[in-house]
Amino acid sequence: MNTEVTEIAPSVYRISTFHPDYGIQFNQFLIKDDEPFLMHTGFKKSFSVTLEGVSSIIDPSKLRWIGFSHFESDECGALNEWLGIAPQAQAVCSYVGAVVSVNDFAVRPARALSDNEALEIGGHRLRFLATPHVPHSWDAGLFFEETDRTLLCSDLFFHPGDPEPMIESGVVERARESIIAGMAGPLAKDMPYTPYTDSALHRLAELEPKTLALMHGSSFRGDGRAAIISLAEIIRETIGKPEETS
Ligand SMILES: [Fe+2]
Ligand SMILES: [Fe+2]
Repeated sequence: MNTEVTEIAPSVYRISTFHPDYGIQFNQFLIKDDEPFLMHTGFKKSFSVTLEGVSSIIDPSKLRWIGFSHFESDECGALNEWLGIAPQAQAVCSYVGAVVSVNDFAVRPARALSDNEALEIGGHRLRFLATPHVPHSWDAGLFFEETDRTLLCSDLFFHPGDPEPMIESGVVERARESIIAGMAGPLAKDMPYTPYTDSALHRLAELEPKTLALMHGSSFRGDGRAAIISLAEIIRETIGKPEETS
Protein backbone atom coordinates (compact mmCIF):
# COMPACT_ATOMS: atom_id res chain seq x y z
CA MET A 1 0.00 0.00 0.00
CA ASN A 2 1.33 3.40 -0.98
CA THR A 3 0.52 6.61 0.80
CA GLU A 4 0.33 9.86 -1.11
CA VAL A 5 0.66 13.22 0.64
CA THR A 6 -0.78 16.37 -0.94
CA GLU A 7 -1.20 19.88 0.47
CA ILE A 8 -4.84 20.65 -0.43
CA ALA A 9 -5.08 24.03 1.35
CA PRO A 10 -2.45 26.08 3.18
CA SER A 11 -0.93 23.74 5.81
CA VAL A 12 -3.74 21.20 5.30
CA TYR A 13 -2.26 17.90 4.11
CA ARG A 14 -4.17 15.00 2.65
CA ILE A 15 -2.59 11.64 3.52
CA SER A 16 -4.18 9.10 1.21
CA THR A 17 -3.86 5.34 1.25
CA PHE A 18 -5.66 3.16 -1.29
CA HIS A 19 -6.68 -0.21 0.15
CA PRO A 20 -7.07 -2.75 -2.67
CA ASP A 21 -9.13 -5.06 -0.43
CA TYR A 22 -11.82 -2.39 -0.10
CA GLY A 23 -11.27 -0.71 -3.47
CA ILE A 24 -11.37 2.71 -1.84
CA GLN A 25 -9.07 5.35 -0.44
CA PHE A 26 -8.79 6.12 3.25
CA ASN A 27 -7.73 9.74 3.61
CA GLN A 28 -6.43 11.40 6.73
CA PHE A 29 -5.91 15.14 6.98
CA LEU A 30 -3.16 16.79 8.97
CA ILE A 31 -3.32 20.50 9.79
CA LYS A 32 0.18 21.68 10.52
CA ASP A 33 0.11 24.38 13.18
CA ASP A 34 1.34 25.13 16.73
CA GLU A 35 -0.93 22.33 17.91
CA PRO A 36 -1.01 19.86 15.00
CA PHE A 37 -4.43 18.36 14.31
CA LEU A 38 -5.04 15.00 12.61
CA MET A 39 -8.50 14.28 11.19
CA HIS A 40 -9.14 10.49 11.27
CA THR A 41 -6.55 8.02 12.51
CA GLY A 42 -7.16 5.39 9.85
CA PHE A 43 -7.48 1.72 10.73
CA LYS A 44 -5.38 0.23 13.49
CA LYS A 45 -3.94 -2.19 10.90
CA SER A 46 -2.89 0.78 8.74
CA PHE A 47 -1.16 2.70 11.52
CA SER A 48 2.36 2.24 10.11
CA VAL A 49 1.48 3.69 6.69
CA THR A 50 -0.45 6.62 8.18
CA LEU A 51 2.44 7.26 10.57
CA GLU A 52 4.82 7.34 7.62
CA GLY A 53 2.64 9.97 5.93
CA VAL A 54 2.37 12.14 9.05
CA SER A 55 6.13 11.78 9.67
CA SER A 56 6.83 13.27 6.25
CA ILE A 57 5.11 16.50 7.44
CA ILE A 58 5.75 16.83 11.20
CA ASP A 59 7.43 15.02 14.06
CA PRO A 60 4.53 12.67 14.92
CA SER A 61 5.34 12.79 18.64
CA LYS A 62 4.29 16.46 18.55
CA LEU A 63 0.74 15.68 17.45
CA ARG A 64 -1.71 17.49 19.77
CA TRP A 65 -5.26 16.79 18.54
CA ILE A 66 -6.89 13.74 16.98
CA GLY A 67 -10.30 14.56 15.57
CA PHE A 68 -12.85 12.34 13.87
CA SER A 69 -16.49 12.36 12.95
CA HIS A 70 -17.88 9.18 14.48
CA PHE A 71 -16.76 6.03 16.22
CA GLU A 72 -15.75 3.62 13.45
CA SER A 73 -12.45 1.90 12.77
CA ASP A 74 -11.43 3.98 9.77
CA GLU A 75 -12.19 7.16 11.74
CA CYS A 76 -10.46 6.30 15.01
CA GLY A 77 -9.36 2.63 15.05
CA ALA A 78 -5.70 3.59 15.52
CA LEU A 79 -6.47 6.16 18.24
CA ASN A 80 -4.59 4.33 20.98
CA GLU A 81 -1.56 3.83 18.74
CA TRP A 82 -1.42 7.61 18.16
CA LEU A 83 -1.96 8.36 21.86
CA GLY A 84 0.93 5.97 22.52
CA ILE A 85 3.47 7.76 20.34
CA ALA A 86 2.36 11.36 21.01
CA PRO A 87 2.34 12.12 24.77
CA GLN A 88 0.47 15.45 24.40
CA ALA A 89 -2.13 14.10 21.97
CA GLN A 90 -5.80 14.02 22.89
CA ALA A 91 -8.85 12.85 21.01
CA VAL A 92 -11.39 15.54 20.24
CA CYS A 93 -14.93 14.64 19.23
CA SER A 94 -18.58 15.15 20.03
CA TYR A 95 -19.91 14.91 23.57
CA VAL A 96 -21.89 11.82 22.55
CA GLY A 97 -18.79 10.25 21.00
CA ALA A 98 -16.70 10.82 24.13
CA VAL A 99 -19.31 9.63 26.62
CA VAL A 100 -20.76 6.70 24.66
CA SER A 101 -17.60 5.18 23.15
CA VAL A 102 -14.26 6.94 23.17
CA ASN A 103 -13.70 7.37 26.91
CA ASP A 104 -14.09 3.63 27.37
CA PHE A 105 -12.07 2.60 24.31
CA ALA A 106 -9.19 5.08 24.54
CA VAL A 107 -6.25 5.01 26.94
CA ARG A 108 -6.83 8.70 27.75
CA PRO A 109 -10.12 10.62 27.83
CA ALA A 110 -11.22 12.72 24.90
CA ARG A 111 -11.97 16.42 24.86
CA ALA A 112 -15.70 16.57 24.19
CA LEU A 113 -16.85 19.49 22.08
CA SER A 114 -20.29 21.05 22.12
CA ASP A 115 -22.05 21.98 18.94
CA ASN A 116 -20.50 25.12 17.41
CA GLU A 117 -17.54 25.13 19.80
CA ALA A 118 -14.23 26.41 18.42
CA LEU A 119 -10.87 24.70 18.78
CA GLU A 120 -7.88 27.03 18.42
CA ILE A 121 -4.75 25.25 17.24
CA GLY A 122 -2.52 28.26 16.48
CA GLY A 123 -3.03 30.05 13.18
CA HIS A 124 -6.05 27.92 12.36
CA ARG A 125 -9.36 27.75 14.12
CA LEU A 126 -11.59 24.70 13.82
CA ARG A 127 -15.32 24.97 14.32
CA PHE A 128 -17.03 21.78 15.48
CA LEU A 129 -20.53 21.05 14.26
CA ALA A 130 -22.52 18.29 15.90
CA THR A 131 -24.31 16.49 13.04
CA PRO A 132 -26.06 13.45 14.56
CA HIS A 133 -26.66 10.76 11.89
CA VAL A 134 -24.91 12.84 9.18
CA PRO A 135 -23.14 11.13 7.48
CA HIS A 136 -24.16 8.39 9.94
CA SER A 137 -24.03 7.46 13.64
CA TRP A 138 -25.54 9.24 16.64
CA ASP A 139 -22.19 10.68 17.69
CA ALA A 140 -21.36 12.21 14.29
CA GLY A 141 -19.85 15.66 13.98
CA LEU A 142 -17.69 17.55 11.50
CA PHE A 143 -14.86 20.05 11.74
CA PHE A 144 -14.67 23.21 9.65
CA GLU A 145 -11.32 24.96 9.30
CA GLU A 146 -12.40 28.59 9.29
CA THR A 147 -9.20 30.30 8.16
CA ASP A 148 -9.18 28.87 4.65
CA ARG A 149 -12.73 27.45 4.72
CA THR A 150 -11.97 23.75 4.51
CA LEU A 151 -14.72 21.35 5.56
CA LEU A 152 -13.38 18.03 6.84
CA CYS A 153 -16.43 16.14 5.68
CA SER A 154 -15.80 12.51 6.65
CA ASP A 155 -17.94 10.12 4.55
CA LEU A 156 -19.96 12.80 2.76
CA PHE A 157 -19.38 12.74 -1.03
CA PHE A 158 -17.92 9.21 -0.75
CA HIS A 159 -16.67 7.83 -4.05
CA PRO A 160 -14.65 4.64 -4.63
CA GLY A 161 -11.43 3.84 -6.48
CA ASP A 162 -8.05 5.55 -6.26
CA PRO A 163 -8.78 8.94 -7.83
CA GLU A 164 -6.62 12.07 -8.03
CA PRO A 165 -5.99 14.08 -4.84
CA MET A 166 -7.92 17.15 -5.93
CA ILE A 167 -10.70 17.91 -8.41
CA GLU A 168 -12.45 21.15 -9.26
CA SER A 169 -15.58 19.65 -10.81
CA GLY A 170 -17.56 16.42 -10.77
CA VAL A 171 -17.66 15.73 -7.04
CA VAL A 172 -21.47 15.80 -6.93
CA GLU A 173 -21.80 13.44 -9.89
CA ARG A 174 -19.35 10.99 -8.32
CA ALA A 175 -21.26 11.12 -5.04
CA ARG A 176 -24.58 10.55 -6.82
CA GLU A 177 -23.26 7.48 -8.68
CA SER A 178 -21.79 6.08 -5.49
CA ILE A 179 -25.00 6.56 -3.49
CA ILE A 180 -27.06 4.83 -6.17
CA ALA A 181 -24.57 1.97 -6.60
CA GLY A 182 -24.25 1.61 -2.82
CA MET A 183 -27.98 1.12 -2.38
CA ALA A 184 -27.71 -2.25 -4.10
CA GLY A 185 -24.51 -3.38 -2.35
CA PRO A 186 -23.71 -5.25 0.86
CA LEU A 187 -23.06 -1.98 2.74
CA ALA A 188 -26.41 -0.44 1.79
CA LYS A 189 -28.27 1.85 4.19
CA ASP A 190 -25.09 3.38 5.57
CA MET A 191 -26.69 6.82 5.74
CA PRO A 192 -30.09 7.30 7.31
CA TYR A 193 -32.48 10.00 6.18
CA THR A 194 -33.84 11.56 9.33
CA PRO A 195 -35.81 14.70 10.27
CA TYR A 196 -32.39 16.34 10.81
CA THR A 197 -30.62 15.36 7.59
CA ASP A 198 -31.69 18.20 5.37
CA SER A 199 -31.17 20.95 7.94
CA ALA A 200 -27.76 19.55 8.95
CA LEU A 201 -26.59 19.56 5.32
CA HIS A 202 -27.93 23.06 4.69
CA ARG A 203 -26.16 24.29 7.78
CA LEU A 204 -22.91 22.89 6.37
CA ALA A 205 -23.61 24.57 3.02
CA GLU A 206 -23.99 27.94 4.74
CA LEU A 207 -20.39 27.68 5.93
CA GLU A 208 -19.49 28.26 2.25
CA PRO A 209 -16.50 25.91 2.19
CA LYS A 210 -13.86 26.49 -0.49
CA THR A 211 -12.39 23.02 -0.06
CA LEU A 212 -14.13 19.75 0.78
CA ALA A 213 -11.75 17.24 2.35
CA LEU A 214 -13.26 13.79 1.71
CA MET A 215 -12.32 10.72 3.66
CA HIS A 216 -12.97 8.49 0.65
CA GLY A 217 -12.23 10.02 -2.76
CA SER A 218 -10.75 13.17 -4.24
CA SER A 219 -10.85 16.44 -2.35
CA PHE A 220 -12.80 19.18 -4.08
CA ARG A 221 -11.94 22.83 -4.54
CA GLY A 222 -14.70 25.18 -5.63
CA ASP A 223 -18.18 26.19 -4.60
CA GLY A 224 -18.70 23.98 -1.56
CA ARG A 225 -22.05 25.56 -0.78
CA ALA A 226 -23.53 24.58 -4.14
CA ALA A 227 -22.02 21.10 -3.94
CA ILE A 228 -23.53 20.42 -0.51
CA ILE A 229 -26.95 21.75 -1.53
CA SER A 230 -26.88 19.42 -4.56
CA LEU A 231 -25.83 16.53 -2.34
CA ALA A 232 -28.74 17.26 0.02
CA GLU A 233 -31.12 17.10 -2.93
CA ILE A 234 -29.67 13.79 -4.13
CA ILE A 235 -29.90 12.30 -0.64
CA ARG A 236 -33.51 13.46 -0.28
CA GLU A 237 -34.48 11.96 -3.64
CA THR A 238 -32.68 8.64 -3.19
CA ILE A 239 -32.16 7.69 0.46
CA GLY A 240 -35.10 9.83 1.59
CA LYS A 241 -37.55 8.05 -0.69
CA PRO A 242 -39.75 5.64 1.31
CA GLU A 243 -39.07 2.01 0.51
CA GLU A 244 -41.89 0.26 -1.34
CA THR A 245 -43.63 -2.40 0.67
CA SER A 246 -44.91 -5.52 -1.00
FE1 LIG B 1 -18.37 6.24 8.58
FE1 LIG C 1 -15.24 6.46 6.39
